[in-house]
Amino acid sequence: MLLTIRNLSVFYNTVVGKFKVIEDMNLDLEEGDIISLVGESASGKSTLGQVLTRMLPGTGSAEGEVIFDGKDVLKISENRMTEIRGTSIFMIFQNPLNSLNPVKTVGFQLIEAARIRRERDHLSTDEAEMRKEAEESLISLRLPDADSIMRRYPHELSGGQVQRVVICMALLLKPKILIADEPTTALDVTIQAQVINLLRTLNKEMKMTIIFITHDIGLAYVLSNNLVVLYSGRIMESGNTESIIKKPLHPYTSGLIGSIPNSSKTSGKLFSIKGSPPSYLSLPDGCKFSNRCQFVFERCMQEEPKLLDVQDRKVKCWLYE
Ligand SMILES: Nc1ncnc2c1ncn2[C@@H]1O[C@H](COP(=O)(O)OP(=O)(O)OP(=O)(O)O)[C@@H](O)[C@H]1O
Ligand SMILES: [Mg+2]
Repeated sequence: MLLTIRNLSVFYNTVVGKFKVIEDMNLDLEEGDIISLVGESASGKSTLGQVLTRMLPGTGSAEGEVIFDGKDVLKISENRMTEIRGTSIFMIFQNPLNSLNPVKTVGFQLIEAARIRRERDHLSTDEAEMRKEAEESLISLRLPDADSIMRRYPHELSGGQVQRVVICMALLLKPKILIADEPTTALDVTIQAQVINLLRTLNKEMKMTIIFITHDIGLAYVLSNNLVVLYSGRIMESGNTESIIKKPLHPYTSGLIGSIPNSSKTSGKLFSIKGSPPSYLSLPDGCKFSNRCQFVFERCMQEEPKLLDVQDRKVKCWLYE
């Protein structure tokens, strides 16, 4: 197993108190997996990505274990963690500017990424070669004026350009695990498709393991082999992507799939899950989805379901016990 998450809980300290936003999570990632994390806003997708790279904001804290390379990422030294972030687990943040250093030029940072990988793989660190590699990665992501982009600082780029520069960093670093948090939101659909294909190629050619965070179940479908559906910091359903999307079991997953625009639906009306995405200030007792679920019954409001083994997957729902 490449990454093992055991009994992971994450808390945030806020002015109104301390809240648990990831609850007792267990998850295994094998080398070469592409796993999508989907769920409505505030379900804990970014928080999960951040805790895996130990990049939670100062007000965040975690309990449990995240085992990578035989060591618990939550407990190793800051020096070792910096090394891991550079070479093994790289995160493209939802706000991609957070993945870049504001006071270094784009070129400096891309060349640094190339250098780190080349040193790791015992390859030449010839400056001209690395510069060429960085420029080519920009051009491959349709940033043809690579030379000008390399000379700029991150804040001198557009949102879509920053997003692509950070994807280039990932291409140059080639980490073992890439966590990509909504990496295509600022991109045009043609470039979006290209990025998805690129991720797929990285996965195929180098067995790069990818954690793809998205609110777009359609993108999860085309890219990932495994799917994790999050709600209020809990796994509601997980398993094979295709199988879940073809036949969702959890009412929440059905709701998410039902709200995708689909030209074959003739009613012209989009289904939407009733109520709003949850806030940790107002979670119901029992199943956290119970106040929005169309199949709710007595037990759901009293007792939180366990993550049950159902058919080919895991489902957190009393309908299946
Ligand atoms: N720095 C923080 N301090 C306090 N609470 C936070 C902080 N960051 C996130 N949260 C809370 O943690 C929960 C999970 O947030 P997170 O950003 O992980 O959600 P998400 O699934 O990535 O949402 P989105 O789709 O909007 O990006 C939310 O309730 C959010 O309000
Ligand atoms: Mg997020």
